[in-house]
Amino acid sequence: MKILAVETSCDDTCISVLDIEDEKSVFLSDIVSSQIEIHKEWGGIHPTLAAREHQKNLVPVLKKALKKAGLLEKGSSPVEPIEKNFKRKSVLLDNLKKFLENHSEPKIDLLAVTAGPGLDPSLWSGITMAKALALCWDLEVVPVNHIKAHFFAPLYMQDGEFPAISLIVSGGHTQLVLSSDLKSHRVIGRTRDDAAGECFDKTARLLGFSYPGGPEIEKFAKKETKKEVDLPRPMLKEDNYDFSFSGLKTAVLYRWRDMEGGRDLKIAMAKEIQAAIVEVLTEKTFKAVKEKSAKTVILGGGVSANSALRKRFKQRAKKEKVNLIMPDKDLCTDNAKMIAVTAFYEYKNNGSIDPKSLKARPNLKIS
Ligand code: KG4
Ligand code: ZN
Repeated sequence: MKILAVETSCDDTCISVLDIEDEKSVFLSDIVSSQIEIHKEWGGIHPTLAAREHQKNLVPVLKKALKKAGLLEKGSSPVEPIEKNFKRKSVLLDNLKKFLENHSEPKIDLLAVTAGPGLDPSLWSGITMAKALALCWDLEVVPVNHIKAHFFAPLYMQDGEFPAISLIVSGGHTQLVLSSDLKSHRVIGRTRDDAAGECFDKTARLLGFSYPGGPEIEKFAKKETKKEVDLPRPMLKEDNYDFSFSGLKTAVLYRWRDMEGGRDLKIAMAKEIQAAIVEVLTEKTFKAVKEKSAKTVILGGGVSANSALRKRFKQRAKKEKVNLIMPDKDLCTDNAKMIAVTAFYEYKNNGSIDPKSLKARPNLKIS
């Protein structure tokens, strides 16, 4: 079956087409339109701006994804009365109407869309388009949990053994999930304040780096200096699987303000911020791996693009003799491929929902 998946939970507009049967699958297309340059000015994601960009980008991204998949055909689709799905007349509605009037229904069997968690206005953009397409093309829809997709897709595609422990680390989330089988997933640890990516971004900003801070800190941490700084490893020794990163941010604030050192101090800080975050993430994850006798460990989310974190995970997985699933960097960050794969499984097991009941669920939990 061919699945068209839409992901707009944060700041990337993503659409993929997946051709999948039980035994084999092929991604016919995967388009990601990044908004980083727009949010840089604000030093972080601006939710209203993100939604406005999604509304502008969605139809062009849809066209690209269909074209790449060989499914874009000139003609016309039935344009059902879709206006009522749009709160006000929007660029998305205009673009979508024009698109439907000029293109026939593609040979797609199922629609998938991220329902949450994420930024409410961003989620609504993708959902509104999915709803309208379901109505006009008479397609079934499967809503997908974004965090679940981050670990479920690699686990499913690579036939991971159970139990499995997943660490999902991004700008908005830091969660440890225990999966007993493909159907049972439980969050066993989470951040009590800032997410790991948020900590990278906020400390980077204190040091004068631009957004997103994680890659900037990683780059700077590779430079040489004799200077050394000591930063705390929050909650490392506590007997639970939770995280906390706001104390690390405060420590950076005071050290940076009170110490002297210019560029050398900045390099030392970058090295130590990265080392502290990597150490806490790795140790807590492998504590769970040991205590839950996990056979597979999965790393996902934007922060897992960090080379130091990937290296530490590789070393620890080898030492603990567990199978490590670490998707390529482009699959670690937000994408619609993971939404399509997760939707396939959910469709087989739970079917679809009435498109009219689709809604954004910014605080959607894993169940
Ligand atoms: O998953 P993602 O693309 O978007 C969401 O937050 O949903 O993750 C973005 C986060 C940002 O906080 C960014 O600083 C961080 O991932 N990040 C990194 C690296 N690349 C992205 N953090 C550390 N090292 C990196 N190389
Ligand atoms: Zn994500």
